Amino acid sequence: MEFPEYVKSEKLRNWVQEMAELCKPDKIHWCDGSEAENKELCDLLVETGTFIRLNPEKRPNSFLSRSDPSDVARVEDRTFICSLAKNDAGPTNNWMDPKEMKSILNGLFDGCMRGRTMYVIPFSMGPLGSYISHIGVELTDSPYVVVNMRIMTRMGKAVFDVLGEDGDFVPCMHSVGMPLEAGQKDIPWPCNKEHKYIVHFPEERSIWSYGSGYGGNALLGKKCFALRIASNIARDEGWLAEHMLILGIESPKGEKTYVAAAFPSACGKTNFAMLIPPDNFEGWKVTTVGDDIAWIKAGPDGKLYAINPEAGFFGVAPGTSDKSNPNAMKSIRENSIFTNVAQTPDGDVWWEGMTKTPPESLIDWQGNQWTPDSGKPAAHPNARFTAPITQCPSVDSEFENPNGVPIKAFIFGGRRSDVVPLVYQAFNWNYGVYMAATMGSETTAAAAGAVGKVRRDPMAMLPFCGYHMADYFNHWLQFGRTLSNPPRIFGVNWFRKDKDGNFIWPGFGENMRVLKWIVERANGQAVSIESPLGWVPRYDDLDWRGLEDFTRDHFHAIMGVDRETWKNEILSHDELFIKLYDRLPKELIFIRELTLSSLWRSPEHWGLATER
Ligand code: OXD
Ligand code: MN
Repeated sequence: MEFPEYVKSEKLRNWVQEMAELCKPDKIHWCDGSEAENKELCDLLVETGTFIRLNPEKRPNSFLSRSDPSDVARVEDRTFICSLAKNDAGPTNNWMDPKEMKSILNGLFDGCMRGRTMYVIPFSMGPLGSYISHIGVELTDSPYVVVNMRIMTRMGKAVFDVLGEDGDFVPCMHSVGMPLEAGQKDIPWPCNKEHKYIVHFPEERSIWSYGSGYGGNALLGKKCFALRIASNIARDEGWLAEHMLILGIESPKGEKTYVAAAFPSACGKTNFAMLIPPDNFEGWKVTTVGDDIAWIKAGPDGKLYAINPEAGFFGVAPGTSDKSNPNAMKSIRENSIFTNVAQTPDGDVWWEGMTKTPPESLIDWQGNQWTPDSGKPAAHPNARFTAPITQCPSVDSEFENPNGVPIKAFIFGGRRSDVVPLVYQAFNWNYGVYMAATMGSETTAAAAGAVGKVRRDPMAMLPFCGYHMADYFNHWLQFGRTLSNPPRIFGVNWFRKDKDGNFIWPGFGENMRVLKWIVERANGQAVSIESPLGWVPRYDDLDWRGLEDFTRDHFHAIMGVDRETWKNEILSHDELFIKLYDRLPKELIFIRELTLSSLWRSPEHWGLATER
């Protein structure tokens, strides 16, 4: 087998050779990440029907792709953590004995790339050469994956220089699982409808994914590497790999504060990461470091520093508009890939929520004619855009800083139509870990399965933690003990509804009001009072300029803590704790007790009674 001379790593050469012998592709292509290579691949994708070129006047250098209707989201029930010991994966992950799984995978991968090209994708998660970054190499038979990985990661030849002769990399093996027999014509979205496996070997630090071409199942740098494998590395090395956006807030005085925030999938993370403050917040500016993942390490000065390991957005399209997120809309003006959105007659894209009135006719995400009377969405609810972060008007000046940005606060927020207040601050680090560990959220379309049920999603990591969730809690507690001045921890809920089912809080840019209080708290400036759950603002502690019709009554409705509902809430915390009991840190049980007793000592409906 021939290798490019710049590939010096023996380990990499051997692995590629071994995998090529197993998968038996017709050809091997070593990706260099160049413009010319990208153009060639996009042309090829247009030729095979995987890509539809969008109108270059409306959406330059951008493409639409329609997936197989059976391959539209992450498949959590087909996702495995194959640690040597079952209990190291814990009860929240699927597990199979690694030997057994390897034998299944060896069978499936044997000859799986016949008739196809195997692409070798070198990529860096994080700025090239940063001490926080890590390298991966993905082998795939999907050119769609290559062009997406080029946007989502730092991909290309320069990675081999960083890797050198004996650098470390995470091997990421991927196949759509549809070999082509001699003369068989390819289809626009090859995948395997029968077998799907998204598999992680945490001790070996390797990933094998078979049968799906979609998003987190196939772009292995994202959830598989940057969260599931990286969470294992982070635990062993004493840092954090988190499902968090990172944003910067600049005050009118020019002070910059960075925060990291965890929300379960499709809770408006991308909108929050690109927030535009309301008009009355003159001089305040929000900048974006990342919208999905943060790698966080303690620096030599004892502060926490975070990088975004990704280089692109893989954002949920439906609901994104010039009103909800102008920065996202500007980010996707060109050089973008759209998957499972609808197509307009003039060769552009559309999705639910992009405009108030839908166009009169469209081609829907399955390629069928669509009109507003069709009675079904034109875009799939989990339709996505892939776009470079550098195209985002709010991209932070430190996005490429290899040393990361200093983090002052962690924010955790689920989608809860009741129970959880708009904002509260944990009394201390351990309370914060409890708050984050017991976070619940109503499920969305980002993963296959039922939508709208509350599920416990600790730190928004339930589908992404690559080891036992209770060990992960312990890692958080332990990590906090090593910090002399740990970031403050906050809970938020933008999604509380009134009796009639309407959202109480306007959300979007107005979240700046909450964010400002958080930043001031984190910097030791803002005032608060004690509630049964933590420190909270009084009505007058938030800045209401420009939103005067959000009255004290609204505020009390969204901040109220009701003992009866919290009884049930805490019972459901217990459900999670009992599931994890064998390794659950005792601190969390004590904090549960403390929270219960403070609820009992407070009024039945704790509604900021002190200020009334
Ligand atoms: C995502 C997710 O795609 O969390 O970011 O599902
Ligand atoms: Mn995510």
